[in-house]
Amino acid sequence: MPDNETRLSNLLDKRSASNSYRSINLAASQLIDFSSNDYLGLARSESLKANILKAYTESASSKNGSTGSRLLTGTSSILEATEHELTQIFETKAGLLFSSGYMANLAFFSSVPQKDDTILYDELSHACIKDGCRLSLARKFPFRHNDLNQLEQKLSKAEGNIYIACESVYSMDGDFAPLERLVELAQQYGAKLVVDEAHSTGSFGKGGAGLVNALGLREKVYAAIHTFGKGMGVHGAFISGSKTLREFLINFARPFIYTTAPSDFECISISQAFRFLEKNQSLQQDLQARIALFQTLAHGKLPLIQSSSSIQAILVPGNSKIKQMSQSMYDQGFDVRPILSPTVKASEERIRICLHTYNSQEEITKLVSTLTTYLS
Ligand SMILES: Cc1ncc(COP(=O)(O)O)c(C=O)c1O
Repeated sequence: MPDNETRLSNLLDKRSASNSYRSINLAASQLIDFSSNDYLGLARSESLKANILKAYTESASSKNGSTGSRLLTGTSSILEATEHELTQIFETKAGLLFSSGYMANLAFFSSVPQKDDTILYDELSHACIKDGCRLSLARKFPFRHNDLNQLEQKLSKAEGNIYIACESVYSMDGDFAPLERLVELAQQYGAKLVVDEAHSTGSFGKGGAGLVNALGLREKVYAAIHTFGKGMGVHGAFISGSKTLREFLINFARPFIYTTAPSDFECISISQAFRFLEKNQSLQQDLQARIALFQTLAHGKLPLIQSSSSIQAILVPGNSKIKQMSQSMYDQGFDVRPILSPTVKASEERIRICLHTYNSQEEITKLVSTLTTYLS
């Protein structure tokens, strides 16, 4: 048996051999950003930064750190006020704040579905939904992406309390879940629908409340997971649902109990980001205009996966091909990223393009023509 370092090195060598070695690089600030999740430009907004700093320095009670888990010394009055504000924004009965979307999904799926229950999750669900399912004692089965026929077959055989997990906007391809039909199916089979709104929070819905709210489905969805590190430009996450769900998570969700609570600065940032969006509602329309422009220009020219969100994907199978293509785009001044297998299935590798309010018409036009030239 090789020693541990050798075993790890061998696994890394395997990654290199399959062209899927991952490395961390400094964000390329000199390139045109078609890659970050800062869809509305809030992460780079100097005005929002000024608002956050002002609110933070003016708040007499704010502390640098939260000092403990929520159940010990970590619940400040600022955190409680932020949770209250989020409950109103998402028009939900109750909710709970987390440090990240990863933690929130892990918390929900590892604790809420019980031993004799069943989780049915879309196969393209984010890793943190899948990791939460892995930690759960419930039975769990994937269904083909957005395939309601297969979901219905699985629903008809499912036992115990049934949970259906989906994303309102899928993180890799930017396509929507058929939320209205999922709600109908959930009702028909007495299942609980859980929607990850990571990529719709901010970009959709009144005040950035997401697609569940925009479609008027809040009351019909069991829980929604909102993250603030993407469209909202800051950090953290919130699970919305019933008061009982909130109490249950507080009592049983280990990723909630055994970690340091979000700091006052994080809470103030979240609150200020939503207030900023409320005052700058046209940002959502600005984003939609960029998406429409990209789609008009790319139509018939690029092998796009159907999506009406700020995430657009171009299928170019093969890790090495997709890496070469993104390197070539990089050399020409564009930050677009390859999505490699095993993150997606082999032969379904793609270039992921994120559109932002700050991408100019000229930049989007140049992006499409450069991509088209590369692929022709
Ligand atoms: C669909 C989805 N859910 C959850 C997360 C995790 O959120 P966070 O980055 O806040 O941990 C992500 C992040 O990439 C995501 O894309």
